[in-house]
Amino acid sequence: MMKQMIYFDNAATSFPKAPGVAEAMSAFLANEAANPGRAGHRMAVAAEKMLDDVRLKLTRFIRGADPQRLIFAMNCTDAINMAIKGFIAPRAKADNTHVITTVLEHNSVSRPLQAMADAGRISLSRIPADERGFIDPEAIEKAIRPTTRLIVLTHASNVLGTIQDAAAVGRIAREHDVLFMLDAAQTIGTVPIDVEAMHIDLLAFPGHKSLLGPTGTGGLYVGQRVPAPAEGEGEGLRPWREGGTGGDSSTPVQPALFPYFLEGGTPNTVGVAGLGAGVDYVAAHDPERTLEHEQRMIGRVIERFADDRRFRLYGARDAKRQVGTVSINLLDFEPSDVGSILDDSFDTAVRPGLHCAPYAHRHLGTFPAGTVRISPGPFNTEQELDTLLDALDQIAS
Ligand SMILES: Cc1ncc(COP(=O)(O)O)c(C=O)c1O
Repeated sequence: MMKQMIYFDNAATSFPKAPGVAEAMSAFLANEAANPGRAGHRMAVAAEKMLDDVRLKLTRFIRGADPQRLIFAMNCTDAINMAIKGFIAPRAKADNTHVITTVLEHNSVSRPLQAMADAGRISLSRIPADERGFIDPEAIEKAIRPTTRLIVLTHASNVLGTIQDAAAVGRIAREHDVLFMLDAAQTIGTVPIDVEAMHIDLLAFPGHKSLLGPTGTGGLYVGQRVPAPAEGEGEGLRPWREGGTGGDSSTPVQPALFPYFLEGGTPNTVGVAGLGAGVDYVAAHDPERTLEHEQRMIGRVIERFADDRRFRLYGARDAKRQVGTVSINLLDFEPSDVGSILDDSFDTAVRPGLHCAPYAHRHLGTFPAGTVRISPGPFNTEQELDTLLDALDQIAS
């Protein structure tokens, strides 16, 4: 068995998972693990019901209106690709399809958009952050053109932890009749999300970070303004993966029925069973208190090192405006060396490097070595944090 570590890498994936997650997965696997919706027998019906229950829980958690518009995905990247590649038409042209995004985005947003820009399918504006790591909603508004179709924003930077004013961007998008997509990878489970009130048309999220579910889970919520291609007027969301959808096998192409047309293939039912237990735990433990706990922890990192000349802190240095994520560097040390020393000599896990967000690091002047990212989760203790802070102090000395 692996030696127990002090785990401060929750922005990558949470560990440990919520109590009950492993048990729910194991029970589902042992008793009900048939293929949902693929047959009329009792086990298939039970598996389908489990999916529907978790769909409903997640929809309620984000205050969505219609659980049928909650699509299960493999992770947040899958959901983001489903949304971007589903919404931008295959024959779109850069002169009539403009997309706005920011320098804070993860590669799961930046890479598909950049590839589309390189292929001449979209023109792309990447809005800079201020020096504290915030995007000004007005800068997004100023970038809107008559051809703007989509705004894509990360709810919190996975490098700096800075929480963006998503509601203001949603309002602007709605006023200009542009679709708004929010990447909630770093916020769902701690920062409140209300897709209706915040005017979010496409919400992409992982199940395996602050929702405390297993890896291999995530979702996309599709708001009412985004139709399936065969519904309503104009363009809609095309499936970027086609195949078996369970219910209707007769149509030669993907049936335009939410959620199934976007869920081709056998879903990760075992993972979803675990995610359901994760959401139950998160909802029962007041996400805002969890956020406060994590903010208190990064507040202590900021307090300890902000005025210490051996350290450099990045971003807002204001825990109240961050999720539980903070980036630091030790002067004269490569971030990767700090990560290795913490791992080898202090049994402590952090994440050094670029965190899949190269534009953010270029913006911070930390490209290509990156930073050391510290991301506590709900189960970290003050004592664990003391160990980490003392270890960093010792390394710097
Ligand atoms: C802001 C952001 N977006 C997207 C992702 C991709 O999430 P996943 O690993 O679930 O694909 C991450 C992962 O860390 C992230 O931090």
